[in-house]
Amino acid sequence: MSRAMWVIGNWKQHHLPEAAMTCARTIADGVAAASAGAHRVSVGVAPPYLSLAAARTACRPVSDLWLFAQDVGAQDTGAHTGEVGPAMIAHAGCSGSIVGHSERRADYGDTDGLVRRKLHAVLSAGLHAVLCVGERLESRDAGTHESVVLTQLSLALSDLSPELVGPRLIIAYEPVWAIGTGRTATGEQAAAMHRCIRGWLGQTWATAGSDRSILYGGSVKPDNAGALVAAGDIDGFLVGGASLEAPSLLAIVRATATAPVVQAP
Ligand code: 13P
Repeated sequence: MSRAMWVIGNWKQHHLPEAAMTCARTIADGVAAASAGAHRVSVGVAPPYLSLAAARTACRPVSDLWLFAQDVGAQDTGAHTGEVGPAMIAHAGCSGSIVGHSERRADYGDTDGLVRRKLHAVLSAGLHAVLCVGERLESRDAGTHESVVLTQLSLALSDLSPELVGPRLIIAYEPVWAIGTGRTATGEQAAAMHRCIRGWLGQTWATAGSDRSILYGGSVKPDNAGALVAAGDIDGFLVGGASLEAPSLLAIVRATATAPVVQAP
């Protein structure tokens, strides 16, 4: 059995349209060569809304590069100032959206309830979702990290059926203490959490859990990506800072495609 492997660049609040177009083009041009390793890696970028149209010119269906939004509204249309819903991101060419990133949870009021509504909305629209979960440093130090992450997961996924979700739900484990800090989780820490998530999914969704791609995010760089994949049960990465330059993202794709993959059943 093999799960889909992904490398997705989250550009956060970086890259105006011109820079986004140049970066996406360079990534698109290099994707086929970089992802041709022992296993296939799907590659995506998530530009800011403003730069989606520019980045789109480099993306699928013209190339193998996938386009994602960084966030999505929980409703399609209406009196919701500042919101961009699933139908709008689809119109902009996105195949899906990141949902529940820790920066949204911590700084912009994305509660577990709102994350759940956004997740339902984007999946119900037939799009992909990259659901982010991850504990803060206090929880890691207190040893409650697994229960924190499983609680986030169970609240986000409540009332979702594996039939609705299909293969379109990707989970990203991003420990908050590793994001933008240069402090990467060790391969053992990441792999242990991925096994914990997969175990929970297996109990909740039976076989639909074992097919699920679980990505790691938090200070992933070209020089640590291969070792993380080799640590086991890590199906790729959600990359922040190191995705802003095309050569760096492509180097992570290459490291992912060529690392020995260990996928637990
Ligand atoms: P960094 O790779 O910059 O740590 O960011 C990770 C992240 O938040 C991706 O969503």
